[in-house]
Amino acid sequence: MKRVSLGPLPIKVSRIGFGCAPVLGRVGKGDSLYAMGQAFDRGVTHFDVARSYGYGEAEGVLGNFVSDKRDKVTITTKFGLVPARSSKIVNFAKPVVRRLIQTIPALASKARRHSLKFSPTRSYDVPGARESVEKSLRSLKTDYLDFILIHDCENATEIGDELLLFLEKLKVEGTVAAWGLASTYDSAGAISALLPRKPDIIQFGRLFGNEMNSWDQELGETPRFLHSPFGGRNMSEVWCRLWKDKRLQHWAKTNDIEIENKSSLYRPLLESALYEAPHQILIASMFQEAHIDENTQASSNPKFESAQLKSFIAVLREILGDVHPKFVE
Ligand SMILES: NC(=O)c1ccc[n+]([C@@H]2O[C@H](COP(=O)([O-])OP(=O)(O)OC[C@H]3O[C@@H](n4cnc5c(N)ncnc54)[C@H](OP(=O)(O)O)[C@@H]3O)[C@@H](O)[C@H]2O)c1
Repeated sequence: MKRVSLGPLPIKVSRIGFGCAPVLGRVGKGDSLYAMGQAFDRGVTHFDVARSYGYGEAEGVLGNFVSDKRDKVTITTKFGLVPARSSKIVNFAKPVVRRLIQTIPALASKARRHSLKFSPTRSYDVPGARESVEKSLRSLKTDYLDFILIHDCENATEIGDELLLFLEKLKVEGTVAAWGLASTYDSAGAISALLPRKPDIIQFGRLFGNEMNSWDQELGETPRFLHSPFGGRNMSEVWCRLWKDKRLQHWAKTNDIEIENKSSLYRPLLESALYEAPHQILIASMFQEAHIDENTQASSNPKFESAQLKSFIAVLREILGDVHPKFVE
């Protein structure tokens, strides 16, 4: 797997990062550790986690995984969303629910709706940030973080100058290598344009429509991490619209590509994201071994030619051009 430099930052990161949002949610500890190992063995050395993932416990699982290979991996974690604690009963029930969902997939949306009751709360003050970073370091069993991101902030007024000074100080101390914003494309860009100190990186969900926005040029070379190459939370809408559209079928036919079912679309979706963002990092959740295999192959051994990917991207923009403003994470 190729690793890329991130602008002026002295760090190289694997082109595909492993997204840890499902850890201790839809995926249990053992399966999470197994998937992390499979991804690492195939060259994925970047891991994206957050204090809020897995009811505040996902970092601990990643910490177990990286404890003997910390110098070989890069880690992003985030602060600002304070994880809700799940009750003992919910913790006890989680493995049972996971097994039930494997047998009856239709239960997944019910379980998702229930998990929303445990939504994290937001806080972007310095004491909260300090406490969060300390917990992250402990859980991840490390004394430094590669990237620390302000999680899901929607408005520049929520970020005070003291917080920016705190983040810069973490850099000077060597506790973090870089800080940034993880939000929607529109919020991250608008906030960054207003801040007196610019973030080192910004992270947002993959855009399927028109990419350029007024702040895009202002950020210039600021490295971007793009998550959810398959649509993330908007996956069902993205897929429903793509799948039904004759323009997609026409693209497949003219390029002599067989699309027998929806899973045939993952590969062109990922390869087109890699093609569109040649110097950026893509973060995907991938817990099944076959998915890890396919996704790492997409980076090291692409199936599609540039012309095919270009026309695929054009089709995506036509069909999904208006999807991106709805990306709220
Ligand atoms: N604010 C933020 O910074 C923010 C917000 C959202 C997400 N994220 C990060 O981005 C990561 C990815 O986001 P996401 O999970 O929402 O979206 P995603 O990566 O677009 O989609 C993941 C889904 O696609 C499936 N999949 C992956 N590769 C596949 C393949 N080759 N064939 C078939 N299915 C495949 C996965 O299945 P399996 O897992 O079963 O293999 C999973 O169900 C998160 O884990 C998180 O780290 C960050």
